[in-house]
Amino acid sequence: MEVVIVQNAAAGGELIADSIAGLLRRKPDALLGVATGSTPLPIYQALTAKVRSGEVDASRARIAQLDEYVGLPAGHPESYRSVVLREVVEPLGLSESSFIGPDGAAEDVQAACEAYDRALAEAGGVDLQLLGIGTDGHIGFNEPCSSLASRTRIKTLTRQTREDNARFFDSPEEVPHHVITQGIGTILEARHLVLLATGEGKAEAIAQAVEGPVAALVPASALQLHPHATVVVDEAAASRLK
Ligand code: F6R
Repeated sequence: MEVVIVQNAAAGGELIADSIAGLLRRKPDALLGVATGSTPLPIYQALTAKVRSGEVDASRARIAQLDEYVGLPAGHPESYRSVVLREVVEPLGLSESSFIGPDGAAEDVQAACEAYDRALAEAGGVDLQLLGIGTDGHIGFNEPCSSLASRTRIKTLTRQTREDNARFFDSPEEVPHHVITQGIGTILEARHLVLLATGEGKAEAIAQAVEGPVAALVPASALQLHPHATVVVDEAAASRLK
């Protein structure tokens, strides 16, 4: 695992956007796995700037979602499909057909999870998976105690994660209780994992993920098992590393 400490979130976004640009030059139709939440926004902004200035051509890039809320009405602005369309697909000038994600509105959620794992494999696998980290150490929505071998499946959000995500909704009660998330085993199949963490609030989770034992209690520690994992942290998120 490679750990890169940058000064701030903007520098982290720029660094990771450079890495994505390099990937797109080598493989123009790369499948980019994207996370939602606040942390990756500087990456999407920096990448969009590179595309608009002509520094990189993303026109053949393909996008895959990491997770999705279960039960939000179609088109809800905070469904992760809507967020990825708004923050990634549209700014990069891509069409909806270049984008795959799990169906959080499916009647048969289990079948939707299995279908998404198949879709990822049929697309050739994720080339570069962007990840954030929860204050409890989750990646995707693999909350503590998730199996390190887990596949895409339905999960119940912890109270902590629902509280953390309440800022995106009008009231805390509106945060869904369930999500579909790529499993840790699924995530580990991506060729390159890039986790960005910024701010003091992530410092403890980062210390445990990077320097603690590999344990289901800290799902992000599974990155230690991956042959090509990069953790980019700002100085605040790095503050509890030894
Ligand atoms: C979202 C996701 C989550 C977030 C994590 C951190 O797709 O996978 O694991 O990355 O909850 O969220 P932020 O970045 O909002 O602190």
